[in-house]
Amino acid sequence: MSTAAIIPAAGLGLRLGGEAPKAFREVGGESLLVHAVRGLKAATAADLACFVIAVPAGSEDIVLKLLEPYCEGASLQIVAGGSERTDSVRAALDLVPVDGIDCVLVHDAARSFVPPEVIDRVVAAVRSGAPAVVPVIPVTDTIKRVDQDGRVVDTPDRRALVAVQTPQGFEPSLLRRAHAGDVAGATDDAMLCERLGVTVQTVEGSEDAFKVTRPRDLLLAEWLLAERHR
Ligand code: C5P
Repeated sequence: MSTAAIIPAAGLGLRLGGEAPKAFREVGGESLLVHAVRGLKAATAADLACFVIAVPAGSEDIVLKLLEPYCEGASLQIVAGGSERTDSVRAALDLVPVDGIDCVLVHDAARSFVPPEVIDRVVAAVRSGAPAVVPVIPVTDTIKRVDQDGRVVDTPDRRALVAVQTPQGFEPSLLRRAHAGDVAGATDDAMLCERLGVTVQTVEGSEDAFKVTRPRDLLLAEWLLAERHR
């Protein structure tokens, strides 16, 4: 049995700015998407046999050529993404083989520098019987819930809050069931499993798995890459 990786990379990256879609923005001379694929391949215990990448429509051929050298020993399929992240994940999920896969990872291209040990922890937890697994880190800010007028409603106890990262790992049939249901407003795939009443397991994430979202995140990514190569 082996693992399949879905990478939603079809976002336009409006908060990041710039000409190219976010996944094609470069750090250290290579696109975020290449960094993300290389990171997943480095998690050797995950035994990745299959990559399915959702990209902006029209860029499928270019991405196939770009990623082929990094996916040696695994199958690689590229699909046009949709208007919401869940549409992109579902389009990719339709191409994941049903046989021979015991874990499906869904990993944001924008979390390009996740360390291999986080990926291995997620896969190990799925293989140990957890049907849905997310990497998390503690929240450092105090979080408040506010109403539409910007007034504070309440302040949840920070000790019970975590920030959720990717890759998220799933038992394949659960992920298919989750995406066949109500996906409205879902910002991650674990949320869809929660809607089915499934318990989602957490494992330790990493600060290095931050999501490149705003221009300053590109600077942080350049620094992190330089530190890793020192
Ligand atoms: O927009 P956000 O940063 O939450 O996107 C997370 C990931 O989902 C990114 O890798 C982005 O490319 C991807 N995405 C997608 N299709 C969309 C929107 C986002 O594949 N329609």
